[in-house]
Amino acid sequence: MGLDKVFKNNERWIKEKLDVNPDFFENLGKGQQPELLYIGCSDSRVTAEEIMGLEPGEAFVHRNIANMVISNDLNVMTVINYAVKYLKVKHVVVCGHYGCGGVKAALKSEDMGILNPWLRNIRDVYRLHKKELNEIKDEHKKYNRLVELNVQEQCINLIKTAAVQRAFRERGLIVHAWVFDIHTGKLIDLKIDFEGILKNIMEIYRLE
Ligand code: CO
Repeated sequence: MGLDKVFKNNERWIKEKLDVNPDFFENLGKGQQPELLYIGCSDSRVTAEEIMGLEPGEAFVHRNIANMVISNDLNVMTVINYAVKYLKVKHVVVCGHYGCGGVKAALKSEDMGILNPWLRNIRDVYRLHKKELNEIKDEHKKYNRLVELNVQEQCINLIKTAAVQRAFRERGLIVHAWVFDIHTGKLIDLKIDFEGILKNIMEIYRLE
């Protein structure tokens, strides 16, 4: 792919936006008030705004390998704190996807160098849910289930943060677990019991 294409696309995109709304970029320049923080995978097939049909300004986005929320990752923690405390987003979404290479790599017994500590967090999710996962004999189904459980655990990691706990208490912030099905294009809401999880883990993770 020649990168010339990108700049041509950009010119066309500007024109399309201005055709619909001549003030589009002027408004964009005024600031942002997104209601949604989206934490997804870096996978090139799982775009954030495009799959949700959202426009610039509507979603604050963080992406990393396998949509992880790791407590000592300064990058994701800074994004969460900024979005929740200052932008005051109403929803935080962790969106995983079937066909996730990061999750697949964590299922392999292989030394992957610098990726090891990152993937270790996914192996920990496996260990937490080993009983359920080992009962699934079909490898493909097991892998899909690990994708879902990983999203759920990353939502729990979100709930462990002081910023999310405070925003839930003070203004009813909601955490959502979604999976994008790469084979159909469908966004699936895993419908995790956010309040139930919160009640269950707060005994240990309460920060107030
Ligand atoms: Co992925």
